[in-house]
Amino acid sequence: MTQKIVNHSTMTDSIRNFTKERYMSLPYFQREWERLWMQTWLFAGLEQDVRDPGDYFVFEIGQESILVTRSQEGDLAAFYNVCQHRGNRLVQSERGNADSFRCAYHAWTYNGDGTVKSIPDRNKFHLGLPCEQTSLKPVHVDVWDGFVFVSMADDPQPLTEFLGPVVDLLANYRFRDMLVTEDQTVHHYCNWKAIIDNFSELYHVDYIHPQHQRFVDCCNDQVDLFPNGHTGVIVEGATVNPRYPIPSEPTDILTEQLKNLDLNPDDFNNRVPEIRRAIQLRKREIGAARGYDYDRFSDEQLSDIWQFNLFPNIILSFTPESCWILRPRPHPTDPQQCYFDKITLTLFPDADLQAKVAANGKAGIAPGGREHEVTHFMPGRDATSGYARPERDAFDHHAILNGEKSMTITIDQDIHLLGGVQAGMRSKGFDRVWLNDDEIRVQHFHNAIDDVMEAH
Ligand code: FES
Ligand SMILES: [Fe+2]
Repeated sequence: MTQKIVNHSTMTDSIRNFTKERYMSLPYFQREWERLWMQTWLFAGLEQDVRDPGDYFVFEIGQESILVTRSQEGDLAAFYNVCQHRGNRLVQSERGNADSFRCAYHAWTYNGDGTVKSIPDRNKFHLGLPCEQTSLKPVHVDVWDGFVFVSMADDPQPLTEFLGPVVDLLANYRFRDMLVTEDQTVHHYCNWKAIIDNFSELYHVDYIHPQHQRFVDCCNDQVDLFPNGHTGVIVEGATVNPRYPIPSEPTDILTEQLKNLDLNPDDFNNRVPEIRRAIQLRKREIGAARGYDYDRFSDEQLSDIWQFNLFPNIILSFTPESCWILRPRPHPTDPQQCYFDKITLTLFPDADLQAKVAANGKAGIAPGGREHEVTHFMPGRDATSGYARPERDAFDHHAILNGEKSMTITIDQDIHLLGGVQAGMRSKGFDRVWLNDDEIRVQHFHNAIDDVMEAH
C-alpha cells in the first residue's frame, strides 16, 4: 500500500508557521481578505447560468457581492453589485434574466454591460454627475471549461496561467457539458480553511467514513501538488480498501455498480479485486450505445475518482459522468463561520440515444465509485429537454446535525466533525497543527496561503 506523490511545483512543503491563529484571529482574517481574496481568481459560478443575453447571477464572497452578466451583445461581464448613486446593493436575487438592473432605492437603472441606462431627474444633479463614474465598477472575469472565475485584483495573471497544469490534466472531463442537478449551501461554524483541510487528506476517511472501504481504495492513491497551491488526489474506485480483509462477495455498493452496467454480481464472488477492471471494460463496451463517449478517457478514469482542489477554495470531485463542486466561502465578518456550497453537475448522455435507451428499459450508467445513496448522480432517463435547473437550497448546519437536511452521508459526517474542530482549536489547550505524510496537500495549501499573505 503506497501513496504516490507527484510534485509539479517548486514548493518543498516543509512545515512552517502552522499555528491556530489562521483559523480564528480577526486581524489575520482581515489581512487574508486584502491579500488573498482581493488578489486571486475565484470561482464565481457556472457559465450555463449566464448562457443567454440578459442572464445573470450574483456571487457572494466575504463582504463583497459580485454581479456576473451576459449582456444583450452576448459578452460576459462582472461588476461589484453596488449602485453608484448612494451605494445600495443593486441586485438581490441569486440568478435570473433581466434587460436591465434597477436599484430599489432611487431607480437608477443599469444595462447588462454595466453602463447607466437611466437616472431619474438627471437634470437635477447640479453638484456634478460625471458620466464615466456612473457605470458599475468592473471586476475581471474569465471562463475555464464552463466555470466562471472573477478577480478583484487590479491586474491578475491570466486565469489559465494561474491554473497551470490542471487545465490540461482535466481537459478530458469537459465539465462545461455537465448540468447542475443539485445546489446546496450550508452555513457552518468553522473557518473556511478547515473545510479545505478536511478535503485535502484521506487520513480521516477510515475513521469517520466507514462506508468508503466498501467502494474505494484510499491507500494506493496518487497525490499531485501544483504551483499556486492547487492539489489533486486520484483514488481507485470500484474496489475495496485493501487495509481490510477482502470480502468474498461484492459489497452492496459494488453490487449496485455492477447491476447498473448489466453485470451479474454473482459472477464476482471470490473475485472482488477483479471488479474494477471489469467495470472499466464494460463501460467501454456499452458506453456508446447508452450515449456516452468514453474514448477520450483512460481505463483508470472510467473507474476512479479524481479530486482536485483549486486554490484557494474550490474542491472538484469528479468521474467522467458527474462532478461535485465544493466551495467554502468566508463569512463577511467572522473568521469562525463560513458558507459551504455543494453544487452537483451531471453529464446527461446524448438526448436521442438516451431516449432510445429509455425505450429499451435500461438506466443510464451510474458513475463509478459514488456512494450508493446518491441516486441523483445517475443520469436520468429524461432527455435534457425535461431538465430544470434546481434552485439553491440554503440552510444552517444544525439542519444537518438534526437530520432535516443532507449533503450525502459522507459530507454530513464531515460537517458533524468540523464544528468540533473549530471548537477545539479555540481551546487554550491547543496551539498548533501537526501533519503526517497523508496530509501533505494540507501543508501545500497552507504554504500557498503563506506565500500570498507575505507577498502583498
Ligand atoms: S442608491 Fe441606488 S438609486 Fe439611489
Ligand atoms: Fe471526509
